This record gives sequence, C-alpha cells and structure tokens, in this order.
Amino acid sequence: MQRFLLMFSVLFSSLFFTQTRLNLIPYPQKIEFQKGTFIIPENFKLDENLPVKETAYFKKRTAGMFTFSSGKKDEGVHLVNALFTPQSVIDQQKKEKYSVDISTKSIIISSNTDHGYFLALQTLIQLLEQYKDSGKIPAMKIEDEPKFAWRGMHLDVCRHFFTVAEVKQYIDYLAMYKLNTFHWHLTDDQGWRIEIKKYPKLTQIGSKRKESMIGAYVDNTFDGKPYGPYFYTQDQIKKVVKYAQERHITVVPEIEMPGHALAALSAYPELACTKGPFEPATKWGVFDDVFCPKEETFTFLENVLDEVIQLFPSKYIHIGGDECPKTRWKECPYCQELIKKNNLKGEHGLQSYFIHRIEKYVNSKGRKIIGWDEILEGGLAPNAAVMSWTGIKGGVEAAKTGHFAVMTPGAYCYFDHYQGDPATEPNAFGGFTPLDKVYSYNPIPKELNAEQSKYILGVQANLWTEYILDFKQVQYMIFPRLFALSEVGWGTSDPNNYKEFEERVIHEFKHLDKLGVNYAKSIYNVSGKVIPSENGVAYELSTSQDQNGIRYTLNGKDPEANASIYKNPIPVSKSMTIKSAYFENGQLKSAISSQTFTISKTTGKKITLLEQPSENYSFGGAFTLVDGIVGNQKQLGKTWLGFQGKDVVATIDFGQKAQFSEVYFNTLDNKGSWIHFAKSAQVFVSDNGTDFKLIKEIAKDEILSSKGKIRLNVGGQNAKYLKVRIENAGIIPAGNPGADSKAWLFIDEIGVN
Ligand code: ACM
Ligand code: ZN
Repeated sequence: MQRFLLMFSVLFSSLFFTQTRLNLIPYPQKIEFQKGTFIIPENFKLDENLPVKETAYFKKRTAGMFTFSSGKKDEGVHLVNALFTPQSVIDQQKKEKYSVDISTKSIIISSNTDHGYFLALQTLIQLLEQYKDSGKIPAMKIEDEPKFAWRGMHLDVCRHFFTVAEVKQYIDYLAMYKLNTFHWHLTDDQGWRIEIKKYPKLTQIGSKRKESMIGAYVDNTFDGKPYGPYFYTQDQIKKVVKYAQERHITVVPEIEMPGHALAALSAYPELACTKGPFEPATKWGVFDDVFCPKEETFTFLENVLDEVIQLFPSKYIHIGGDECPKTRWKECPYCQELIKKNNLKGEHGLQSYFIHRIEKYVNSKGRKIIGWDEILEGGLAPNAAVMSWTGIKGGVEAAKTGHFAVMTPGAYCYFDHYQGDPATEPNAFGGFTPLDKVYSYNPIPKELNAEQSKYILGVQANLWTEYILDFKQVQYMIFPRLFALSEVGWGTSDPNNYKEFEERVIHEFKHLDKLGVNYAKSIYNVSGKVIPSENGVAYELSTSQDQNGIRYTLNGKDPEANASIYKNPIPVSKSMTIKSAYFENGQLKSAISSQTFTISKTTGKKITLLEQPSENYSFGGAFTLVDGIVGNQKQLGKTWLGFQGKDVVATIDFGQKAQFSEVYFNTLDNKGSWIHFAKSAQVFVSDNGTDFKLIKEIAKDEILSSKGKIRLNVGGQNAKYLKVRIENAGIIPAGNPGADSKAWLFIDEIGVN
C-alpha cells in the first residue's frame, strides 16, 4: 500500500521521486519522508550504550565509509538505540519489529530486541550504501516488521560439500536480506556430514564416496574421483551456530530418516532391513535401503539426536521424512511383524509410527520436529510441523488440522531449478523458476481462512546441490532469487509491480559486484515466449531492459549489434532457429538465447488435456505440447510438462481436415527422479471431435527401444481431430527408486508429419 503511494507521487513530481525512491530489499512496510537531510558524517559518533555485538557487525559492514567514535546520548551522537517496550515482545514478528528515524541531527533506531536492532542496521547499511556518494540521506521514518516468522534458506551439503567459511558466507547473505533461518541439510544417501562422537563410523565411512555422477543424469556418467572425507566437526558446528546467532539466524539441522539413509547404513549396516554391505551413493536420486524401524535403530537415532540437540539450540529439529521407499519394509519380516503387532495401516502406517516415535523423543527433550510433506503419510505426529515441498497440499492439510507449516513448494522455491533459458545456464536439476516466478509467490494458500492462515509459519527456498559443484555456483543459483524470497517472506512483495522490484534488484547487483558475488544475470537475457498466431505460432521476445536493444537472427548465426532490431512477435511458420541477444551502445550485454522450432500441422492449434500437469511442472499448460518446441531429453526445463501418476490424454483440433502419416512425441526416463517412460500410447482420429477411431497403438518395448523418441507411422490420415493417449508407467515397480509411489510421465510436444 505504502509503495503504491510512493509510485503514485511520481506522477506529480519527478523531483520528489528522485528523492524518495529507495533501493531497499526487502522493502520496508512503511516509510514516511520528512523535511531536510541527514549529512553523512566523516566521523560517525555512536551512542555508547548501543548493543555491542550488533554494533560491531555494523562497523565491519560499513568499514571504510567513515571513522567511528562514541559518546553519551546527549553529546550529539549520530546513532542512538531506543527500546520500544520490551515486555510487549509476544511473538517472533514483534521481536523483529523496528523503526529507524532519520532526522537532520541523528538516526534513532527503536526496537524491542537486539534482533530488531540488527534488522534496523541492515536497513541503515543499505541506505548508507545508496546515499554515501551524495553525502546525505533524506530525513525519514521507517517503521517495519516482517509478515512471516520463518524466512529460510536451505543448503544441501551432502551431494556437494561446502566449507565452514563458505557456510558462514551463506549465512551472511541470509542476514543481509533479513532472512532468519538457515536449514542445514546434513545427512543424505551421498554423504553424512556431521560428526557424532558416539558413532565415529558415520563420518569415517559415511562422509566419503567412491565417485560422483557428473553431467546430466541421463548420461549416467561418473567422474571416477573419490569424494571426501568431508564433514563438520562438532567444534566447527558450534562455531557456525555461534556465527549465525551473532547474525540472528537460527540454524535448523536436518537429520534424514527413515529414507535418504544410505551413508548412515554404510557405516552401520545393522540398522537396515537387509544385511548390506552398503556404500554411500554415487548417483543422485532415491534409494531403497532405508532405516529399519527396529529398537536398535531407534536407540541409534536417539543417541544421534541427543548430540544434535546439544549442538543446535533451535526450537525445531528437521527429521527429513521425505522420499522413503517402502520396498525393503515390505519384504522385511521384522517390519511386517511390527505392522501386525501394532495394527498399523501397512507401510505408510509404519512410516507414521517411525515419525511419531521420533517426535515423542524430540519432544521429551523440549524440542519440536519439522519434516517434509511425507510425514503426513499415515497420520501426522501430534506436534509436528510440515515443510510443504511437493506443492502446497501438505501445508494446507497441516494448517487445516492445527499444525504449523513452512511453505517451500518446488515450483516457486527450488533454487536448483533453471532461472533462465537452460541453453544459457549451467547444468541444473531441471524445472524453470525465474526471478519473477519466485516474486509472484504468496505463502498463504487460497484454501485457508484467516484462522488457519496463522499456521503458515513462513517461507523457505531450498538449494539441493547435485548439480552445484562449488560455491561460485551456489552464489549463481541463489542470487538474485534470494532477493525475491526475502521480500516474499517480509510480506512487502507486490507481483503486480514486478518491474519496480527488478529495478531494485539491478541496483543491488552493484553491491554484489563489490562483494565479488557470482550472481546470475539471467534477467538481462532476452526471453522468448511462444504465442498462438494466425498461421501457427509467433515468438515474442522481451527483456527487462530497453526493448530497442534486442537484436535477432533467423539464419542460425549469433546476432551482432547490426542484426535485425526486434519490433513485433516473429511469425514462425516453418522450422527455424531464432537467436537473440541484448545490446547496449553496440555492446553485447546478455547471453545469446537460441530457440529452435520444429513446426508441424499441430503447432499453435487448439489443444485440450483431460488431466492437467502437476503444479511444479505445468509451465505454459497444454499449449506447451503444440508450441513448436521439442524438449531436450537432457534438460528437464520449461519445454516439458510433468504428470505424476496420470496419463496424458490430449486432443488437438486442427480446425480443418489435415493430412499426416506420422505422429511424434518424446518421453523421458530418469528413474532416480521417479520419471519413467510411458507404458503405452494410442493414437485416435475423429472428424466430429466426439467419435474417435483408434489408428495406432504402441507398447512399452517399442517405447524403450526408441529411447523415448516416439515416431509412429499411422498411414495416410486426413482428419480434423487427433487424440493421443500416453499411458503413465503407474505405480513404480519394486527394485526402482520410489517403488510403490506414482511415477512421473514427462511429455514435450505432440506433432505430426
Ligand atoms: C525433497 O525435495 N526431497 C524434500
Ligand atoms: Zn525392516
């Protein structure tokens, strides 16, 4: 609301605009401008009673801008800290509430707590950065507090390891943009990264692997290089926790159970259902060997948790809970006996039994558990919070039943996804989650009423590191998306005003440049959008910068400064490659984007889907299947639609009779991510859109032998409607990652020749 008022004033006074437009991220709740300016002094005189640690941090961050001295409040000091009324601290948000009152004489920060004071300093640092060249800051009063109590970033240190110094750097980034929770993913199939004194083999054996997968998952290629031993000693962990505390960041450790346990089982195979031996995984994905819920396992996990709880003072302990295949439990006599004895509802009931027991233990130590969506399986433990990742359903279900939830749906909050055209980005997990998508996220699901919404603790983004090899790439994947997350969590994001946000992002890039951060420049890139047009489709190019800077070619050559200037959507009536880039003053500023079109009689035609794709992989919806873009089988980006447990039934209306003799589409196989080739496919035609005739059928072995690139000879057809039914592999069979869960089916395009 406040920002709307600011923008509104622009219409009346550009002078006012230049004075009042602030480059702050996250944008504060309320800014009131006052008369006059505060002259930034050469010697900054600090009230001698300022909170010590936070003030030391402030001095470090502003080192070089001015010198410091200190004095009594009434001796003309520049920075003063006043308390609101500390007894009014009732919840996390109020702890973080602050105001900054900048007058011509001084800057007065008010807050309930040192945490609020620290957040105020972050705002002040951004203001000083912005105004130090002009030497003065406009007088103003900022009143600010976050909307959400949990504003988190996660880091997976198992798939790839990051040093203590790098983890501290990561925590610094969180602090700079007012996030307050660091979710440290410490154990997984590929590595156990936390020293546990009672079980030394966890790190002796579980912290290294024989080799690692490299490149795209489908290449199934390994580097042949031993990885590790890499882990954090308890001493190092204490230092990280202290470092985070000094920055008012809560560190929430994650110890994965019952799944993602292969590294632990490698060290202690007796905790599995079968004998082993096991090795830490070298591949990415989900693995069948998980903790067996025997007494010995619970004793082990309780002992591990004892040490974890000693190290981490956080209210919540994350116990994982995701992606636990039930294959071993099904065949394990002990597990089956346990199900019978406790009258559990099958293996899902056993998962619930597992989590309930762990919760009881963690609660007995005065802490709470949080776990991924799957802890809802078979019934949620009484005090558990849910981290909703597969979509928003988990969070909705939790909130409706009076459980807290942190929202981190893949489609908006998975920073291992691509943030620009995959062809211009480093190899990533897949998906497509650009900056504006993150910025558009509202953590409160529409399904919840006001009372239920109170259970939405907040929002978090996750950084899984299968494809993130070093810290430079960590920086690339989180920036600038962390800015969007920060503002979404603070509660001042305004997706209808995305452009205004993007301008602040570009301003903040200067600051990242100074810090040497390798951020993604994807927002400079020319992005393309396929739109339906009279003769099929057209390709609309855009950039967040000056549209007149877009140059493109249709001949496959890289555009240069003198290439065609983009004006209007480019008609694409035949197969071709469009290359585009952004230029400023004759200089190339962006990566070169390249898009190849494979045009067929289906391109741009009306298409309907019986079942819609899953939210995380729905991109342009049904139109994606007739947009003239064939997917790259190595890059699960926005050209692919994903359907979990569902068939694809697509009907295409040619508008008039069309002749063709071949139908084509592609499907993916990536069993580690539960993606399977289609089981079968059928092709039908119709002239009235109601009565369809089956003209071709293909079985699984043919799909396998064609490696998912399906080309079906259908004889000479002349029809107005085409219907294709592509059958999902269904329930994932035993012996595969994710056995018993619903398989994913991915489809890119349905074309004819
Ligand atoms: C997850 O992404 N498996 C929580
Ligand atoms: Zn078992």
